[in-house]
Amino acid sequence: MHRPLSAEQCSRFEQDGFLVLENFVSREQCRALLERAQQLLEQFACSTEAAALNSVFSTQNQDRDEYFLESGEAIRFFLEEEACDAQGQRARPLEQSINKIGHALHELDPVFAEFSTQTAIRQLLADLAQHGLGPQRPQLLQSMYIYKQPGIGGEVGLHQDATFLYTEPQSVLGLWFALEDATLENGCLQALAGGHRIAMKQRYKRDGSGGTCFEQFDASPFPDQELSCLEVPAGTLILLHGLLPHYSAANRSARSRQAYTLHCIDANAHYPQDNWLQRRWPAPELSLKPQA
Ligand code: FE2
Repeated sequence: MHRPLSAEQCSRFEQDGFLVLENFVSREQCRALLERAQQLLEQFACSTEAAALNSVFSTQNQDRDEYFLESGEAIRFFLEEEACDAQGQRARPLEQSINKIGHALHELDPVFAEFSTQTAIRQLLADLAQHGLGPQRPQLLQSMYIYKQPGIGGEVGLHQDATFLYTEPQSVLGLWFALEDATLENGCLQALAGGHRIAMKQRYKRDGSGGTCFEQFDASPFPDQELSCLEVPAGTLILLHGLLPHYSAANRSARSRQAYTLHCIDANAHYPQDNWLQRRWPAPELSLKPQA
């Protein structure tokens, strides 16, 4: 549920580069998304694609295959690195091996599409736009369903989302929905408070010959500052400024930490043709006038 942002919330977001909104999503909505992801996974498990699946998502190794590079306009499944043996073969049941589903759930799946375009999200984005804290014409560019599997959920290194979803000027805004309780044990988000004032370090893009590469702008490390641990209950929405450095540790606990994320950009900004994520049709733009 969206309550208009208070002046204090706006200044906290400006100050920290993130904002925690508890109880944004109801328990029923969390359950509906968990169930829908489960259904999608069961359907996928019966497909021929599942048997051939060998696309691992790792933030350590950013070499990407076609299956990944075409996922901006598809619903695709990616494996946890530790779900595979030394030969790269999956070594555990599929449902315990998936790292994430991406990257167009918000558009292609009716349940996720309805969730992603709900009035509360439109109102929040309208509120942010009005305060100059978010895109003026928000386009839903990317969605991810993240499992953070028990025991093997991979670490996600400290990064800025703008590295992966680059626009000129920078406009990406992340919406991170906790569908289960996120704790330090199961790999909650951690953020470098105030770090969104750091310029973009690098950009991940297509290299022009079928692969991807990083374009480095500033090779210096992020400041050695303690990260804020964003331990939140299920139903919480965390807003992330596109330049905010954030991280999540590996999940060595017995509990998953499932989350759904949406990334919006501003339709007024330029979206380069060498960004890794490409689509043959425009990303859906959200009307900021809530439908009755
Ligand atoms: Fe991120």
